[in-house]
Amino acid sequence: MTVNEQTYGAGWAADYDMIFPDGPGVDATVDALVAYAAKSGAAEPVALELGVGTGRVAIPLAKRGIRVHGIDLEPTMLEVLRAKPAAVEVTDRLTVAVGDMTDVETFLTPGAPTKYDLVYTVFTTISALPDGAAQKRCVQAASQVLAERGRFVLEVALPRLDSFDGAGRRSRHVGKFGDSPTMETARLHLVDQVIESEIVMFSPDGRVRVQPIHHRFLWPAELDLMAEAAGMRRVSLTPGWKPGSFTPSTPLYVAEYVLV
Ligand SMILES: C[S@@+](CC[C@H](N)C(=O)[O-])C[C@H]1O[C@@H](n2cnc3c(N)ncnc32)[C@H](O)[C@@H]1O
Repeated sequence: MTVNEQTYGAGWAADYDMIFPDGPGVDATVDALVAYAAKSGAAEPVALELGVGTGRVAIPLAKRGIRVHGIDLEPTMLEVLRAKPAAVEVTDRLTVAVGDMTDVETFLTPGAPTKYDLVYTVFTTISALPDGAAQKRCVQAASQVLAERGRFVLEVALPRLDSFDGAGRRSRHVGKFGDSPTMETARLHLVDQVIESEIVMFSPDGRVRVQPIHHRFLWPAELDLMAEAAGMRRVSLTPGWKPGSFTPSTPLYVAEYVLV
């Protein structure tokens, strides 16, 4: 599989941290991942992040003492990660490699652990995969590297179907990315469960940058079936990184699986 511009390809690497800066949300994510890793019972848990990107979550998780291996299909995202001083500080606990999260053979590379106490994918990275078949392969791959008492944890966005008009289109102002006022245009393909969008950033210097996104959303029940086919069962489902109730406008869910 190759990463194209719609699945966070090379065009994203330079802008990614500006568009999605570290924020308070990262602390909640890292706190929760530390707790999931502890549930494995391992004295020194080893974690695998699928689609590690620029290390937004992997670096602070390694700082918390967890050994993290991250894989990503896009080398330029990993270059940005490696160049961060914060990543250099944790090189004894953080390793990264190019790998395809839908193909376990690509991330069982020499030197990388073969089993993990925590396998995780955050920021709805599973939706960057093109279709349900690729997502199913990803879940299968995760199950193959999960330690006996390990946890597979996914953060997945829920779509707001009511934000689209009758023709399945949406166009909206989404605030400022860095110093650039930003618009989003999107098209919903309901049956394929795909939202195709463009993030359009208007820089103060007059430049206009356009980043396309292909997002294949999936409901918890579908993810449960993929996990079941891969020999796992769900043990928790929360509307975000903390317990709570789901409402029609809940923006995301976090699902936790173990091997059966
Ligand atoms: C939304 S970004 C998330 C990055 C990071 N996890 C974070 O939380 O900021 C999605 C990442 O998944 C990577 N990606 C897309 N398809 C992939 C695949 N098949 N295998 C591995 N990584 C992939 C992209 O290159 C990108 O870095």
